[in-house]
Amino acid sequence: MVCSDSYGFTRYSLMLAKERVSCRFYKKSCIFAAKFRKNRKQSKFKIKMAEDVFKKIVSHCKEYGFVFPSSEIYDGLAAVYDYGQNGVELKNNIKQYWWQSMVLLHENIVGLDASIFMHPTTWKASGHVDAFNDPLIDNRDSKKRYRADNLIEDQIGKYEEKIAKEVAKAAKRFGDKFDEAQFRATNPRVLENQKKRDELHARYTEAMQGPDLAALKQIILDEGIVDPISGTKNWTDVRQFNLMFSTEMGSLSDATNKIYLRPETAQGIFVNYLNVQKTGRMKLPFGICQIGKAFRNEIVARQFVFRMREFEQMEMQFFCQPGTEMKWFEYWKKARLAWHKALGMGDENYRYHDHEKLAHYANAATDIEFHLPFGFKEVEGIHSRTDFDLSQHEKFSGRSIKYFDPERNESYVPYDVETSIGVDRMFLSVMCHSYTEETLENGETRVVLKLPEALAPVKCAVFPLDKKDGLPELAHEIVDNLKFHFNTHYGDPKDSIGKRYRRQDAVGTPFCVTVDHETPKDHKVTLRFRDTMEQERVDIDQLRSIIEDRVSITSLLKKVANEIKNY
Ligand code: GAP
Repeated sequence: MVCSDSYGFTRYSLMLAKERVSCRFYKKSCIFAAKFRKNRKQSKFKIKMAEDVFKKIVSHCKEYGFVFPSSEIYDGLAAVYDYGQNGVELKNNIKQYWWQSMVLLHENIVGLDASIFMHPTTWKASGHVDAFNDPLIDNRDSKKRYRADNLIEDQIGKYEEKIAKEVAKAAKRFGDKFDEAQFRATNPRVLENQKKRDELHARYTEAMQGPDLAALKQIILDEGIVDPISGTKNWTDVRQFNLMFSTEMGSLSDATNKIYLRPETAQGIFVNYLNVQKTGRMKLPFGICQIGKAFRNEIVARQFVFRMREFEQMEMQFFCQPGTEMKWFEYWKKARLAWHKALGMGDENYRYHDHEKLAHYANAATDIEFHLPFGFKEVEGIHSRTDFDLSQHEKFSGRSIKYFDPERNESYVPYDVETSIGVDRMFLSVMCHSYTEETLENGETRVVLKLPEALAPVKCAVFPLDKKDGLPELAHEIVDNLKFHFNTHYGDPKDSIGKRYRRQDAVGTPFCVTVDHETPKDHKVTLRFRDTMEQERVDIDQLRSIIEDRVSITSLLKKVANEIKNY
């Protein structure tokens, strides 16, 4: 009773033979096996579809001036990208939305713009020189380099996937009668995979303390993890790899001049904490926020702008009285999620991922994850960093960074809650969510970026129907009036109106205005809405009021303010 197939059903059928199952049950099993194959094919198909969509998004970003590979004429530079004419507008809008949500919606938050280069002792104090490492491993056959922790986490993920599949299969089979908790507690295959997963997780967690590099390698060998490219287990030892880029400052290139490109913007805030607190007469609790570039020599940089070697962060450090940090941690968890959700990209696409294993300086940490084509991924981190950073800088600089609390009549080092979001990951989330392919009634397809309107690079495009009867002049006049209020472009009449609409759809312009031969007579234009493609005849004087409210960052801020006022 062996019905072998490419999905490993040989083992399953042999098991049936061993158990001397009845013919009826065998038939059922074969049907079940066929269904399993179908589901497996479907899920492989889904993964493939997601990969295809992601590839399309990457090429769309290039074709429409959002993101280019860096120095492309020299074949590019790995994991470094440049933002084009539309990309920079979208990115600036994201930054403006974030910045204003911090400094306008919170009276006790102020901004800062610190340098990328900092005194090298900063990185000793912060722990980055000694501990900002990834454990790397090479495969001798493929010559590819991997993060050992990623290989093991993927393996843990495989056990979890197996369990999830068993549960999904059973849920489908038993329908409403399905008791998931009981199934998980009794099904032999689930229990076996759960045991393997838990044992591996425990070994991995222990090996990462330190970390114990030999133990990490042993796990990779014991689990039989193979290189996805060569398919072999010909691994080198695991080594530590510091992620900071370094260079020399000044003309001498000796070790004393070694300087780092900051791997996070946060330390610029910590070293300026006293400056801001004193010159701004800030009272606890208060926050300092900053947007800026950060650099990490990532071993495995992948998934386009998701993991880059040069990227941008928007970070805010919220300083508070010791003992109040958990209250503020909860506040910022909710406030940051409200900021994301106000964009209208689907509440179901977000989730928190609370950290089980905390960094030595943190007493709570969570990620906000967004559903990208390659799964739920971290876009933002919220960490309760205690007084670790300020205390370290106090120790290494020898200067007091204490706050005198007039209410408590005592001095102490404040505690800190950090919110840290990657601009590029946010950009990618917005692009992935907005990219849409639609089949129209006439059978044509259109690619449209359904961007949140306030983030769109261009808010309105004005088209003269053709070159005659002063229509271009009238269109220019409309652009000249609207451009002070939101980004408005003129669309040359050399292309058909349909083509001009498609081009604006592809860059996500929410409104198009067409000036036609009736316009000089009735002072009206056709206003087209991007998402519905509906068209409306409106008076030129109404354009600003119709569009402005929908495309302004203020409209988003109002939503956030309304949500967070009760937190
Ligand atoms: N100061 C805390 C900190 O830097 P992190 O979790 O390492 O924490 C915060 O980074 C955010 O920065 C991440 O949630 C992510 O959005 C972004 N980020 C980190 N590394 C990145 C990379 N290599 N490429 C793009 N974005 C990155």
